[in-house]
Amino acid sequence: METPTRITVNASGKYDILLRKGGLSHIGDAVAERFKPCKIAILSDDKVFPLYGKVVTESLERAGFSTVSHVIENGEQSKTLDNVTAFIGTMVQAQVTRTDMVLALGGGVVGDMAGFAAAIYLRGIPYIQVPTTLMAAVDSSVGGKTAVDISSGKNLIGAFHQPALVYLDTDTLSSLDHDVMRDGFAEVLKYGFILDKELAQVTARPGTFDLEQVIARCISIKRDVVEQDEFDKGMRGLLNLGHTFGHAIEKLSGFTITHGSAVARGMVIAAKVGAEYGLPNLTAQITEIIKAYGFDTDCPYSADELYDVILSDKKRSGADITLVLPESIGHCVLRKMPATQVLELMIKTGL
Ligand code: GLY
Repeated sequence: METPTRITVNASGKYDILLRKGGLSHIGDAVAERFKPCKIAILSDDKVFPLYGKVVTESLERAGFSTVSHVIENGEQSKTLDNVTAFIGTMVQAQVTRTDMVLALGGGVVGDMAGFAAAIYLRGIPYIQVPTTLMAAVDSSVGGKTAVDISSGKNLIGAFHQPALVYLDTDTLSSLDHDVMRDGFAEVLKYGFILDKELAQVTARPGTFDLEQVIARCISIKRDVVEQDEFDKGMRGLLNLGHTFGHAIEKLSGFTITHGSAVARGMVIAAKVGAEYGLPNLTAQITEIIKAYGFDTDCPYSADELYDVILSDKKRSGADITLVLPESIGHCVLRKMPATQVLELMIKTGL
């Protein structure tokens, strides 16, 4: 096991993010260093739990914690209020109290749901994120955004609730399907495009960089953003590059286009829309990098179809939508505009 990298977040709660290659079997020690013995309610899914459930529960139990586990079906379709209610039922049955904790073992779906359950159960109990996908590692496990989807849209019910600890064993990423790993790279590229020209250069060619260093860099960027704007009132919006269009693509596809794949397309649309808005045209550069990862960059939906879904996006305020638009590689800007202007710009891009 390598010496852990520790990144500390100073938000409404202060917490550590530990990156520990090969360290999953030592998670109990890391938790015991920070928290008194208690009951830990683990939420996981049926792909991840068979791989890592035993090693995590045994490590926690060796360190003096008792555990109860609840396993959901893998996939975005599971991110429902009903499944959160069922997990809370397991916690009630196991007599989990306010001095106990939740632990999310899995990707973004499990992390968002476990965080939301922890935010509302008994009006809030602490939770630990153990991300096992690249997307969850660099984005959703950090920063305290928790949510579930409803039929009208993604993440429309949720809460800000910072984790008490994020524990990442990068070895868990090696078991990911190629498409799931690639999805995570959409979020990695996002950080470079938005805020870090050097990271964008390093990650421009897949397979040519040290993944652990890149993950740590992405998490540090996210930490900096969350510390400045925990409750998403301003610059945290930059992290949504490609997401307004991406969420619409995901929803229109009935979630057959995955999050990363949709965000990749969304970032290309953002570049095209930015150019129509009058910013420098970065479409070719952004498209080339995204294509290098094997993403399809064509959008199968028209401007009108995307617009209908965008109108129900939670990032809309009144009649306005704030778009994240690239001004140069490594620098994006937020531009608030009437929703109708977003439609006009999309039409101009040829969608
Ligand atoms: N995933 C975007 C954010 O955490 O703000």
